[in-house]
Amino acid sequence: MTSKEIRKDFPIFNDNKISYLDSAATSQKPKCVIDEVKKYYEEVNSNPHRGTYSLSMEATNRYEEARQKVADFIGCDDSSLIIFSKNATESLNLVANSYGLDNVNEDDEIVISIMEHHSNLVPWQNVARIKKAKLNYLYINDKYEITEDEIKSKITSNTKIVAITYVSNVLGVIVDVKEIIDYAHSQGAVVVLDASQSISHMKLDVKQLDADFVIFSGHKMFSPMGVGVLYGKRQLLNKMRPFLMGGDMIEYVYEQDATFAKLPNKFEAGTQNVGAVIGLGKAVDYMQQLGYETISNIEKELMDYMVMKLSNLDFITMYLPADISKHTSVLSFNIKGIHPHDVSSILDSFNVCIRAGNHCAQPLLRHLGLDSTCRASISIYNTKEDIDKLAEALQATYDKFKKYLK
Ligand SMILES: Cc1ncc(COP(=O)(O)O)c(C=O)c1O
Repeated sequence: MTSKEIRKDFPIFNDNKISYLDSAATSQKPKCVIDEVKKYYEEVNSNPHRGTYSLSMEATNRYEEARQKVADFIGCDDSSLIIFSKNATESLNLVANSYGLDNVNEDDEIVISIMEHHSNLVPWQNVARIKKAKLNYLYINDKYEITEDEIKSKITSNTKIVAITYVSNVLGVIVDVKEIIDYAHSQGAVVVLDASQSISHMKLDVKQLDADFVIFSGHKMFSPMGVGVLYGKRQLLNKMRPFLMGGDMIEYVYEQDATFAKLPNKFEAGTQNVGAVIGLGKAVDYMQQLGYETISNIEKELMDYMVMKLSNLDFITMYLPADISKHTSVLSFNIKGIHPHDVSSILDSFNVCIRAGNHCAQPLLRHLGLDSTCRASISIYNTKEDIDKLAEALQATYDKFKKYLK
């Protein structure tokens, strides 16, 4: 399949005007996912796990089927280890609060990378502050790599948690997470893997990776907004306190005390975003049909093309890793002397959508000596024409500003 064929699955491109290059923020949704959500609300809507009538039981079946699909998708043989939240941020906060606060003590160490999105950074700052623990960083070198020396010097027997992104949302760098996971385990640490930026591009197998917790958002992988995923190992999830308390996560409630439901319900308090979960199940079907091989072939060709087109523009600085085989889907760049917000506003007038700013990764930008970048990110529905339009619009932006530039 080609990206031109795939693009037809996405109704937002029906008028074919926009060049959407912001899929790292959220992906567009294929018609099959939109239809599935609509069908759910038209035919099945009711509260799962509550009613003893057929409609509610059907909603329960659909909800649990989606959980099974997500489990299969990431190589997990037990769907009760898949917990639905509202997004990756909530899943990360769940782990930080329910696991972190109870398992990190004074002078222990939490290790994260300098590339983390704020949602895999600020919750750990909070745990470190409350527990008087140390928050240490794995820094990248000038090739945008975390070296073996860095890993071995930062992760020690005092490290209780290593929380790491699989792919940087700013640099598109693919982190060698297997090396980090294995080393962290050899030091007795638990590993939290933020797969938010990898899940729509690269196959993830929880058994092969052996991460203790894996997290991602549905909306970056073609599902509706409002559903996040947390996978965790059974022995850890079983021992953890619930994060949110309320309906559907309890076993018995007494006036002064309560016992909690088994996995996964223990972590799913209150009414869930059932439509979004069902949409996620359909998004999984859609990705399975395409297959990661097709996805990665299309995206590699597009990214190579984008790098080539932008290298032809001598006023552009790109922020790429030295080893381009460890790069995917996201390209940060700047035009010297023009603020990224101005660039993105002018690009908007050409119907080219990119993101500009610090991308919720301020410590990384500071580490790179930058304030903000333009970020173009691709997905399976992008075409070379989108990238041509980006290059033309960047040229026009530069032409407009160049007389003011020193
Ligand atoms: C690497 C990474 N982690 C976490 C998140 C947070 O995702 P969400 O906003 O869906 O909670 C993002 C969002 O951009 C991200 O790029």
